Amino acid sequence: MKKEKENRIEMDRRGFLKAAAISSMAFCMSPSLEKVKAAGSAVGIQPYWANRSVPPSMAAVRCQRTLGSGKAAFTVSAIGYGCMGLNHNRSWHPDRKAEIALVREAVERGITLFDTAESYGYHVNEKLVGEALRGYTDRVFVSSKFGHKFVNGVQMKTEEDSTPANIRRVCENSLRNLGVETLGVFYQHRIDPNTPIEVVAETVGELIKEGKILHWGMCEVNAETIRRAHGVCPVTAIQSEYHFMHRAFEENGVLAVCEELGIGFVPYSPLNRGFLGGMINEYTKFDPDNDNRQTLPRFQPDAIRANTCIVEVLNAFGRTRGLTPAQIALAWLMNKKPFIVPIPGTTKLSHLEENLRATDVVFTDDEVKELEKIISSIPVMGNRYDALQESKVQK
Ligand SMILES: NC(=O)c1ccc[n+]([C@@H]2O[C@H](COP(=O)([O-])OP(=O)(O)OC[C@H]3O[C@@H](n4cnc5c(N)ncnc54)[C@H](OP(=O)(O)O)[C@@H]3O)[C@@H](O)[C@H]2O)c1
Repeated sequence: MKKEKENRIEMDRRGFLKAAAISSMAFCMSPSLEKVKAAGSAVGIQPYWANRSVPPSMAAVRCQRTLGSGKAAFTVSAIGYGCMGLNHNRSWHPDRKAEIALVREAVERGITLFDTAESYGYHVNEKLVGEALRGYTDRVFVSSKFGHKFVNGVQMKTEEDSTPANIRRVCENSLRNLGVETLGVFYQHRIDPNTPIEVVAETVGELIKEGKILHWGMCEVNAETIRRAHGVCPVTAIQSEYHFMHRAFEENGVLAVCEELGIGFVPYSPLNRGFLGGMINEYTKFDPDNDNRQTLPRFQPDAIRANTCIVEVLNAFGRTRGLTPAQIALAWLMNKKPFIVPIPGTTKLSHLEENLRATDVVFTDDEVKELEKIISSIPVMGNRYDALQESKVQK
């Protein structure tokens, strides 16, 4: 009986997903969000709040955006939720019950894109996100990532593995850990120099045909790789680091190629791992056992001290507008291009609310120019990655 009920729920869900996939329902509830309205054809799941009364005063994302185009189009909330910090690479997190409640609150407030990866505490983050989203996966999408090499659950930091067998292994694990039938976007986490991107694209193309993933993307790749991959299997999104302190993609052709080919861009660490939120200073202590920031040149005390003037620019700009530095950092990204969907992470409802409100912020062109002029005149101290991590990102 229980099994039958589960099957029925599963069939309803599949029907819903199919219906969602053929409907073309883009909607944007807030007129102030015109500028961040989804571009291109919209294929998406209706946000949870669409049929419920979410008071206008409540912080929520009320607008969707489309990543990718044509068959690769994927419509999601204008801002996503990066789940990594719920257990991995960050210093503090609440207990599991509170984390699950927070993720569900994000669903209530309109987020339909949740981001995780095999490597965020080898399966730990996927299982947590799976548990948090149980019962909600008919209305939200979860993205995960493949490509790092693991032996007995331990990451081989100097090697990557995007062989077809590994991609398939990770996919099966992710589906099981998350308790879903289909992944929203399946990203290659880092390029594997031993597996041509065409082979990766063919493999994910098969997974799409098999219904195991809806779409695919890559992280930290260059424009040439994007073109080659897109030629084999249309790419939905590039997920790479992008924020006020790391703007390489504006100059190295990646954003331009995304615009040309109709590919979305998902900035990861959009607050520069919390730095642009203004709550980190040279005295901040990071958990020595579970926070990668302490290994990053940009998070050494002298770099933090020097770079704090960037946060001060955001503070000054926000002071007259009633905006926090985090809101300015996120709104700037969303104002840059209509195909950009940032995925900030947080462990706090107050920060989630603050970040959601950034989706209501529309800057004038003059405001964007003013911000960029001041910030680009400030040299950033310290590299974003150490030498090994830097060697893994394509130039
Ligand atoms: N593809 C890749 O290679 C890659 C790499 C890294 C990350 N990612 C993805 O990107 C997501 C986000 O990246 P991230 O967590 O590294 O960086 P982030 O989103 O830039 O920053 C997260 C940090 O910012 C703080 N924060 C959030 N909102 C804030 C606010 N309003 N004011 C002040 N501080 C705020 C959070 O602390 P509180 O918890 O205190 O709010 C957290 O420590 C990850 O979860 C992951 O899904 C992908």
